[in-house]
Amino acid sequence: MVSPISLVSLVFAVAIASVDCNIEGDALSAWKTNLVDPSNVLQSWDSTLVNPCTWYHITCDLNDHVTRVDLGHIGLSGILVPQLGDLSNLQYLEVYGNSLTGVIPTEIGKITTLISLDLYQNQLSGTIPPSLGSLVSLKFLRLNSNKLTGAVPAEVLQLVKSGSLTVYNVSDNQLVGSVHHTNTAELGSK
Ligand SMILES: *[C@@H]1O[C@H](CO)[C@@H](O)[C@H](O)[C@H]1NC(C)=O
Repeated sequence: MVSPISLVSLVFAVAIASVDCNIEGDALSAWKTNLVDPSNVLQSWDSTLVNPCTWYHITCDLNDHVTRVDLGHIGLSGILVPQLGDLSNLQYLEVYGNSLTGVIPTEIGKITTLISLDLYQNQLSGTIPPSLGSLVSLKFLRLNSNKLTGAVPAEVLQLVKSGSLTVYNVSDNQLVGSVHHTNTAELGSK
């Protein structure tokens, strides 16, 4: 027989589970409020839905966790927000070819499931966060053609040296110092 206490626990567990599900939708909604979207490509991003899995440009896995954000060449400006770090199952962040400004949030380094971080051809500025060195699953790191400054952090160079990245491009920024462990001209900072 089910005791009242276990019923109460069950209700709490269900409540916690649904709050948990909304974290990713909340993160993306927070991002949307910081984006300028003249072509209304984010119209389907309805924060009142139980999860973001039916939104355009979003892909989820079978457990309704967001695995892909595909917003390449889609006319967006605005900024990347720290809440993107809450997309804890994200594998592909494809936001290339827009007009995003501001910095790359340190919190992106929390997404250890990330396979591809494609932020190339935007107007991103500031330095590359050392936290990106924590992205041990990363295969594609393309930050080229932005306005990034400073040196590539040692943590990120370590990732490059580890050989796990298939594609790494930070060229066409305003970076200084070593950007790679070899002298590959194409990947130079100029
Ligand atoms: C690296 O980025 C630069 C600048 O965006 C681009 O011209 C070049 O083709 C890229 N290299 C590779 C190998 O993709």
